[in-house]
Amino acid sequence: MAILKVARLGHPVLRQAAKPVPPGDISSSSIQRLIDDMIETMHEYDGVGIAAPQVHHSLQLAVIEVERNPRYPQAPEIPLTVLINPEITARSDAKRLGWEGCLSVDGLRGEVPRAEQLSARWLDRSGRPVQAEAQGFFAVVIQHEVDHLLGKVFLDRMADLTTLTHLKEYDRYWLHGEEPESE
Ligand code: NI
Repeated sequence: MAILKVARLGHPVLRQAAKPVPPGDISSSSIQRLIDDMIETMHEYDGVGIAAPQVHHSLQLAVIEVERNPRYPQAPEIPLTVLINPEITARSDAKRLGWEGCLSVDGLRGEVPRAEQLSARWLDRSGRPVQAEAQGFFAVVIQHEVDHLLGKVFLDRMADLTTLTHLKEYDRYWLHGEEPESE
C-alpha cells in the first residue's frame, strides 16, 4: 500500500465530474490497490473520508471511516465504508448546519448546511449493491464525498463565507463546544 499525494484546491481534477467505475473493473488489481491506498492515505492524514479525485483519479470512488479521529475527537464512529458510483436518491428537507473541513482545502473550516437525512445507493468493493439510509454525521460525510465526485467542495455549499476560518482561529473564536464535521 502507499500514501498518495492529495490534490489541493486549485488543481483542476477537483473541479471535474468524476467518471463512473465500470462494474467489471471493480475486482481489478488496479482498482483494489487504489481503494487500499485511499484508505491508507485517509488514515495518514486523519481524514474521515477521501474521494478519488483528491488523489488525482477522476473516478466515482470514495472511502469513509471514523474511529476515534484526533481531528474530530467527538465524532460518532462510522465503520469503514467504500462507495463506488454512489448516488444520493433522496434528501430530507430538514437541514443541519455543521463545521466542515477538507484535506484538499488545507487549514480552513466553515459552516455548511446539509440535509439531515438521506437515502443513497452505491457498489461496495466487491461490486455488491448497497442501499443505505444515513443521518447526522454519516449523512454529512456522504454528501461531502459525493460532492467531490461532482467537482464540488464544501466552500461551494456554504450559505455564506462569513464563518470561513483558519484552524487556529476556529479553536480561538468559534469552538463553543460544537463539533466540527466531515472530512
Ligand atoms: Ni473533502
